[in-house]
Amino acid sequence: MSDGRIGNIERVGTGIPGLDRMLGGGLLAGRPYLISGGSGSGKTLLALSFLLEGIRNGEEVLLVAADEPPTEIVENVRAFGWDVSAVKTLDANPGLKAFKRTAAVQEIRTMTDLRSMRDIAEDTKRSDLVEEISIQSIHLKLRQQMAGTPFRRVVVDSMTSIRRFAVRSSNDIQPERTEIQSLLRFLAELGVTTLITVTPGDPAVLAPEEILSRGEILLTRKWIGDRSVRQIKVLRMRGCAHDPERRPFAITPQGLVVG
Ligand SMILES: Nc1ncnc2c1ncn2[C@@H]1O[C@H](COP(=O)(O)OP(=O)(O)OP(=O)(O)O)[C@@H](O)[C@H]1O
Ligand SMILES: [Mg+2]
Repeated sequence: MSDGRIGNIERVGTGIPGLDRMLGGGLLAGRPYLISGGSGSGKTLLALSFLLEGIRNGEEVLLVAADEPPTEIVENVRAFGWDVSAVKTLDANPGLKAFKRTAAVQEIRTMTDLRSMRDIAEDTKRSDLVEEISIQSIHLKLRQQMAGTPFRRVVVDSMTSIRRFAVRSSNDIQPERTEIQSLLRFLAELGVTTLITVTPGDPAVLAPEEILSRGEILLTRKWIGDRSVRQIKVLRMRGCAHDPERRPFAITPQGLVVG
């Protein structure tokens, strides 16, 4: 479904018609949402469908990639025939050095400047751009970039990884909560519709995003005998009526198909 208005509220299509139907026409524009699910549940594919729908509508869209290097994302979605070259990307993957470290806390991270997917390949060998990855540093980088480009859609994939990479001076979760709140408020003030992917885990760890997001979509996978069944459920959606049922979906050569 393309972007449209239902009543007074602008709706943002997810690129997945069956999901838009569950949402009563799409996400409410300018708000942050959580996409939660285990590994391989389809969070990244859903988030990319959302960004590609924006590209189809002529919008500027941005991916903050912390789960897998952008080059891998490009390769992974080639099977679907998706052209992600117009997706601007902030590579928030830790540098190789960070992966090799044995200490629990990683100190060296790489966050390259914003670039489009088509430029990413040249960038992978550069090791001179070393910065700390944290919610705050990503916020600052986004502020700089938003000043020049009016992004309509942003995906953070995943908040779970960014929080894992971030160096914490204490176990106090409050500063992190404030940083997430500040980032999401900034994006909402600019009218950006944001998807944040998270892996479900300790509820206490998830609490900040759950409080701050305006809705949550849960992706699950269960086994019936030797058959795997994927399911999607709109857990919460403030401000609009939605289909509360758990619906089956499939990952097909065309991407996610609900129903
Ligand atoms: N071409 C394809 N055809 C069918 N299924 C595919 C294809 N490519 C990937 N998949 C499936 O899509 C799923 C990967 O989805 P995705 O990467 O969006 O998961 P994720 O929730 O982001 O996982 P993670 O938390 O590990 O990042 C896998 O289960 C994989 O089997
Ligand atoms: Mg993923």
